[in-house]
Amino acid sequence: MQSRPLNQYEEGGILHPEQICLNVGSPGPDLLHLVAGYIEKGAIALTKKYRHEETLQYSPLRGSYLVREELAKFLTRQYGQKVDKNDLFITCGATAGIQLLIDVFMDGDRIVFVENPTYMIFARHLRKSGKVSLSHVNMEQDGIDLDDLEKQVQGLPKLELTPEKPFRALVYVISTHHNPTGCCYSEVKSRRLISLARKHKLLVVCDDVYNTLNYQVDPTEPEKFLFSSQRLFAYDDKNDLDYEGNVVSNGSFSKIAAPSLRLGWFEIPDHVAKRLEDTFLVESGSGMSAFISSIMGEVLASGDMDGHLQYLRKVYKKRMETTISTIEKRVGGLGVKIRPPKGGVFIWIQLPQGVDAAHVLQLAWKSKVRFLCGETTSVVGDFKNFIRVSISFYPLRQLLLGVECLCTAIQKLATKQVTL
Ligand SMILES: Cc1ncc(COP(=O)(O)O)c(C=O)c1O
Repeated sequence: MQSRPLNQYEEGGILHPEQICLNVGSPGPDLLHLVAGYIEKGAIALTKKYRHEETLQYSPLRGSYLVREELAKFLTRQYGQKVDKNDLFITCGATAGIQLLIDVFMDGDRIVFVENPTYMIFARHLRKSGKVSLSHVNMEQDGIDLDDLEKQVQGLPKLELTPEKPFRALVYVISTHHNPTGCCYSEVKSRRLISLARKHKLLVVCDDVYNTLNYQVDPTEPEKFLFSSQRLFAYDDKNDLDYEGNVVSNGSFSKIAAPSLRLGWFEIPDHVAKRLEDTFLVESGSGMSAFISSIMGEVLASGDMDGHLQYLRKVYKKRMETTISTIEKRVGGLGVKIRPPKGGVFIWIQLPQGVDAAHVLQLAWKSKVRFLCGETTSVVGDFKNFIRVSISFYPLRQLLLGVECLCTAIQKLATKQVTL
């Protein structure tokens, strides 16, 4: 009889002692153990407040007022920009957030635009669902190609817009520390995207799951991390004369605390939030992730998440810089190219000409190392000579073991010591 793996994470590789899975973009065991301590403290603090009639009850549709208040204060501190508690809507993670928006605002007549490359799991499942059409827009160094988006949007079919379906199409972007490229949208691109969205009645959904993981420091104070560039939601300024509310910021605790919390938030225009309130999921379930959000409210109020983020930035910065310098030293001379990201958890690596990511994977996997092949991030199968490496899961020593092995595979293929 075959012996059963201990759990699905061992089977899937990420807890398998012999494998190094550089494709995994979540925090690793060392970081999750720290988070467990904060959650325990938060849960005790919550229980001691004896607000059970509130914290164990169905919550307000957009989430507990106290939690939204703490979250607004936390995000304001971490973004370095005002976040209004009245714009917040608690979700059970970014995945659920985007799914809800698709379900409510999209239909068979409407198109979802995705970046090329993009967050592959979203694009793959959207395409598989067959419920909406998908179109891709290439990424440039500072964000999506807006000339192309504009051209495509101008060709959209005429649709009757109603209060239930007020948008002609949805644009899905990751404008800060992009998955997989690591790029951040420039101010020019961000502003132009907002005007396009307003002019053509588009809903822009921005996955803001990496925004607080910025590794740039103040040159005069190396311990002081700078803030990430402004999120798209803030560019959709309510004071503008033509403001209609076209952007949703889809945030998450998965990357900065723990994915199993299934906890996230929207910053969302009021008219969009009202439509979401009028769904079976939100009305019948009365808000999302109510209890765990109350515990997180305590964690946020204690300042533990601020401290944890500061720690994460230090650890991830070191991992990011060491990984990039190792790759550059080992295979930079062979034509490998990296544009070092300012934050997030991914390194997007262009392989030497003629070297195929699938072959590198095949070779690296012989030593039980894997990573994401670029092709899977493209709805049109581009990026065959790109790979994505995540720095979030493994402590530095183990991460570098995997990276060295990856470099050896690249080197062997680039110098034709091996042909596959
Ligand atoms: C861009 C992006 N959005 C969403 C998710 C998933 O987020 P959550 O765990 O909050 O559903 C990920 C995880 O890799 C991601 O990279």
